Order: sequence, then structure tokens, then C-alpha cells
Amino acid sequence: MASTLSCEKEYVSRTRKSRAHFEKAKKVLPAGVESNVRFFEPYPFVVERAKGPYIYDIDGNKIIDFALGYGPMILGHNHPQVVKAAREQVGKGTMFGASPEIALEYIKILQKAMPSMEMMRFANSGTEATMHPLRVARAYTGKDKIAKAEGSYHGGHDYALQGVDIPEDMLKDKANQPSIPFGKGIPKAVSDLVVMYPFNDWGVTEEVITRDADELAAVIIEPVQAGGGCFIPRDNYLKRLRKLTKDLGIVLIFDEVLTGFRVAFGGAQEKFGVKPDLTAVAKVAGGGYQLAAFGGKKAIMEEIVPNDEGNVYHGGTYNAHPVSVAAGLATLKILSKPGTYAKIDMIGDSLFQGLRDISEDRGVDTWVESIGSMAQMYFTDREVSTWRDAQDIDREAWRKWFMYSLGKGVFFGVPHADEHFFTSLAHSKNDIEKSLEISDQAFKKIAEG
Ligand SMILES: Cc1ncc(COP(=O)(O)O)c(C=O)c1O
Repeated sequence: MASTLSCEKEYVSRTRKSRAHFEKAKKVLPAGVESNVRFFEPYPFVVERAKGPYIYDIDGNKIIDFALGYGPMILGHNHPQVVKAAREQVGKGTMFGASPEIALEYIKILQKAMPSMEMMRFANSGTEATMHPLRVARAYTGKDKIAKAEGSYHGGHDYALQGVDIPEDMLKDKANQPSIPFGKGIPKAVSDLVVMYPFNDWGVTEEVITRDADELAAVIIEPVQAGGGCFIPRDNYLKRLRKLTKDLGIVLIFDEVLTGFRVAFGGAQEKFGVKPDLTAVAKVAGGGYQLAAFGGKKAIMEEIVPNDEGNVYHGGTYNAHPVSVAAGLATLKILSKPGTYAKIDMIGDSLFQGLRDISEDRGVDTWVESIGSMAQMYFTDREVSTWRDAQDIDREAWRKWFMYSLGKGVFFGVPHADEHFFTSLAHSKNDIEKSLEISDQAFKKIAEG
């Protein structure tokens, strides 16, 4: 373990039990964690329980949570109506291996939010929710390649783990960026089927997709790119992409795993007025339980229907898990109430604008890229709108802010400089003010060097 930095001192002194847990966990869990993303230096804290906007760790610290389960907990933790719905379902049975009646009620509300989902199927994670529609698109078009944006993240399957992070010495010009596997164990044969395009750079995106159109089954995109932090589409990027893919006969897949029910009830497709062919949702869709879905145009989704000529396989023991569907349904019902997103966005904006203001007052250069209740703060003196822009940010300054804040009881999101943080409906004015005060102290220290 690296030696303790001064910004980590308070965190280390307040998390002795977490440290002891980590030392034991390391022996049985690779890197001591259940998901690589959860690890951060010097060691991650361990949670006892969570309620509303707070996490309580095993050392008894109460932490204001802006990671929110890495996105799902938009209502805050353990919302009483969601807990009630899940408990009631547990009482009725948790696993049928047959359709639960409430699945259709869930689909109805999902279709209200995203009318583009003419037909859908349930899955259990965002990874599955992007993996299946890629296969469906290949079957529908009879083509093998897919295009994904450099830096974007669509989960842990081989087609998605391409160009997630491109080492500096492998960065080429944007129109000719080879697909680089993210980590070991991914066959080169898969990388050869993935074409890279640069999100938010329309000229190059158009060039790449047009060039490879004859081989491309699908273009998959996070409509607000969260791989690499948070990048909001500019200059009608999504509308142009919609038109181009339609003209070229390529299936457009929106990965709304993070943006669905977060940037608007109807996700980014509602916010930006663009209708994809297929969509993947997860995270908020399950209200904190394992629920994901993918769907879209009937003619494409019907590739899954078994028939004599062959079809696309889609299955899953836990698909439409009754407890997840009940919890997701309760969550979506709350979110569908008029005025909910105005409130969600207002809470987000109070934090994000506050961070812009206080960092400026302290003379610390930052760019806070935000949309609604989701953001990332980049320590840089330039606007950040693309994944390449974010490659030379000051990661050390980010880490100082993040660790200093965590030591004082504020968890500013997924614990890496190229991730993001969120607000929830449960965060109060006091939580935001306290988090801003602590950030102000961190900025002061950063400014003093
Ligand atoms: C945009 C996006 N797509 C897909 C995934 C994968 O979801 P999961 O971790 O549920 O497999 C994530 C996870 O963070 C994501 O942010």
C-alpha cells in the first residue's frame, strides 16, 4: 500500500475497521473488492447501512453520498415506498422462473417514459442490456461490426471493453483510432470488429461511420457520455447521428443505463428529442435492485422470437426478477409524478453551480460538466467536452479534493477522476451546503499547494 498522503490522513484515521476488513478481504477477493471500480487508494471504506442521502460505514462514519450506488439511487437509499414494494413481493415469493404479472405493468410505465421501446426484454445488469441488442442488431442487419465511441463504457462484455481507456502511446488520429481492448483476455478477433468514433466531434464521426457503413450493424452510444466522466452532446450531435445511421441502414443503440430516468423521466432520448432504434436501461430502472432491459423497434426486437429459420437467443434465469420489478415499478411511479425532475435538477444544479463558484473564488481552475443530477468536475483551465479533452486534466488535484472531502464525510462519486457523481431527491439544502463548505476547504488547500 502506498504511503499516506496528507489529503488522506483524516480518512485513514477515521476508517480503521474498514482498513482491517480490506486486509482480510484482499486474501479472498482479488484487489479486496467485488468490482474493480470499487477499489481506490489507500483502501475503500466498507458499508454497514444506508438511508436517504447517507451511507454509514463500519467505523460509524455518516457519509453524504454522491455516488448513489454508482447511479441507481436517484430517490436516495431505502426510500420507504420502494422498501414496502420489495417487502410485499418477498412475502409473495422471490423466484418463479415464470412471468410475474407485474412485469406488464412495469413495461407500460417504461413505454410511457420511452415510447421508442415498442417491444422489450428484461435483463439483470447494464452489461447484459448492451450485449443483447448488439447481437440483435447483427442478426437484423446481417453485418458483423459495431461502432462505439472512444472512452465510452457499456459494461463488461468483450465488444464493450474496447477503447474504454486508450494508453497515450496507442492514441492515433481520431479518424483512424484502432480498437484497443480494455485489459487482458479479450480476443483480437473481437477488437477487429469494433470501430472507434469520437463522441462530440461530428465531422470525424460522420467520416468514420460513412466509411465503414457497409460492415456496421450498429452504432452504440451513451447519449451523454459518462465513460471518461460526463460529456454533454453539443451542436445537435445526437440528431445528426440519428439521421446518418438511418440513411445508412445502421441500427442506432442508445445506452441509457446511466441516463435513463436520470437526465429526464424519458432519459436522454426525451431530453434531446432523438428516437433510437434500440435502447438499453438499468441502474435507476431497478431502483437499487438488479433490473435491466433492452428494447426498441418491433421489427428489430422480433429477431428474438423463435421461428423455424432461426432466431437470436435471449434468456436469463433471473430476468424480470419479481422483487426487482416491484422495486423498479415503485421507483418509476414516484419519478413519473409531475414536477419531480424539476426538483431533481434543482438539487443537482445547486451543488454543481456551487462547485463552479467556490473553485473560481479560490482561484482553482475547474470545469464542471453537468446535466440535471449528474456531473463530473475536471481540474483544468479549459472547457471539457470530449474524452480526449479530459486526458490531460490534473488528476492529482481531483484526488486531493476527493480524498479530503471523504475524510470529512462527503463521498464525491465513483472514486476515480474519470467517473462522475450524482445528486438525489433525498439530498437536503444542508447536505449541499455542508458538501460545498468542505469542498471550499479542499480548494483552499489545493490553491495553497
Ligand atoms: C453507460 C453504462 N452502460 C453499461 C454499464 C454496465 O452496467 P452494469 O455495471 O450494471 O453491468 C454501465 C455501468 O456503469 C454504464 O455506466
